[in-house]
Amino acid sequence: MMPGSKLHLGTALAVGAFLTLPGAAFAQQAKQVTFTKDVSPILQAKCQSCHEPGSIGPMSLVTYQDARPWARSIKQRVESRQMPPWHIDRSVGVTKFKNDMSLTDEQVATIVAWVDGGALEGNPADFKAKPVAKDLFWMGERDGYGPPDLVIKAPEYTMPAVSQDQWWRPVSDIPVTEPRWVRMVEIRPTNLQSRKILHHSIAYHILSPENAAAVNTGIGGRQVSVSGSAAQAAADLVNRRPQLMEWAIGKGYDRYLEGTGKMIMPGEKISWDQHIHAAGEAITGGSEIGLWLYPKGQEPKKRSYLVAFTGLKNGTAALDIPPNSVAATEGFTVLRENTIITNFQPHFHLRGKAMQVEAIFPDGRTQVVSYVKDFNFNWMTNYIYADDAAPVFPKGTIIHVSAYYDNTKANKSNPDPDQWVGYGDRTVDEMAHAWMNVVYLTDEEYKERVAKFGEGVTNGVKPQANTQQQQQ
Ligand code: HEC
Repeated sequence: MMPGSKLHLGTALAVGAFLTLPGAAFAQQAKQVTFTKDVSPILQAKCQSCHEPGSIGPMSLVTYQDARPWARSIKQRVESRQMPPWHIDRSVGVTKFKNDMSLTDEQVATIVAWVDGGALEGNPADFKAKPVAKDLFWMGERDGYGPPDLVIKAPEYTMPAVSQDQWWRPVSDIPVTEPRWVRMVEIRPTNLQSRKILHHSIAYHILSPENAAAVNTGIGGRQVSVSGSAAQAAADLVNRRPQLMEWAIGKGYDRYLEGTGKMIMPGEKISWDQHIHAAGEAITGGSEIGLWLYPKGQEPKKRSYLVAFTGLKNGTAALDIPPNSVAATEGFTVLRENTIITNFQPHFHLRGKAMQVEAIFPDGRTQVVSYVKDFNFNWMTNYIYADDAAPVFPKGTIIHVSAYYDNTKANKSNPDPDQWVGYGDRTVDEMAHAWMNVVYLTDEEYKERVAKFGEGVTNGVKPQANTQQQQQ
């Protein structure tokens, strides 16, 4: 073979290799990806609030020296989209959110290229430090909604180093002197330490008699249940009893659809239900709720209700997860009113694996509303739909929740795959429901909403009317 043709072959291969590189990677071949120039702005925007000294993350990612030892782990978490904790499947259902903290594909590619290229620092002069917050923060404030107008703190509890799970249920006053409308709520642990012991906190709303419309009558007690009354009674209790908010570890806030909210009145109280588990050290803490109010004169027209759509059609007693197995259950709830669904928050305990919410229309069509395929117990992330993307369903639609459990050792959260697991309130027991805020519409309002954004999941883009006639 002539030397010339060999050279030619080499060139062809090199060109071929370049052609198969995606655009972003090609650009990064040309320039070096460095921490100070390319990576630190992404970490500051998407990671620092949790990964700075004193925040909830296990390590700081503020400076190059902080981040460098974690490079491999960062690549792995970012590529698998475990970090930031935003685990919803974007290939189905609603894809537009109000509180999306995820990375763009381009940001993921930049971080991966940085690690693959040796996790270089770059020019220190390119680093522009972002101030480090000193204390706990409200996720709502971080996301630009300002500080809460009202904060109500539950009396704290001291959990010993070793104990059975506890349910701490004190009562707090709601300090308002006139009726006010709430547009957004967030519960957080009262200090960083107590994040380790607080699994969930529900702020039940003890109503004044004039506020009876806060009781949800659109769903409670009308579940499709095979085994009947026990399951119905449980669902009834959960869904009729009004709540300001349900929070579980990692959740963040609830921001209601614009023009909807919850009314609070003088003399009302919060009855807390806090599930606390021992963490190997004595910790004193509890929870507090931040309330963001509608300005006076801008009262909303509609109530927002919090519903736990069940994933257990045969009732709680039928939840049966054998040792070392993957299991599935499902649940069905009929919507008795035209309903807008405004968010999705899957709730499980340690064996939760995946949850899908599907709508079955009265005419039999089905549509996936949301799917989280790799649920992580540390992150009960609340996926809040953008106002125009919040899907609306006609009365008679069935909300079908499919729940999957992993009781094998492949599940990193699993404390003991050799245990049988059934329903219960303890963290080592299991449960499955989709927490969703809903707004009910009259037939007139329903038609208006459909005319604007279409029916069901459309992500805010009304499907084009049939244009065949114009084309002919
Ligand atoms: C909402 C808060 C929050 C945000 C935002 C966040 N993290 Fe985390 N991160 C945590 C917490 C808490 C943990 C520990 C629990 C866990 O592993 O889920 C963690 C764990 C990690 C770990 C694993 C550490 C280990 O022990 O191996 C890595 C790596 C990581 N985060 C990187 C990132 C990166 C990179 C970003 C931004 C692109 C980010 N995180 C955004 C809170 C957050």
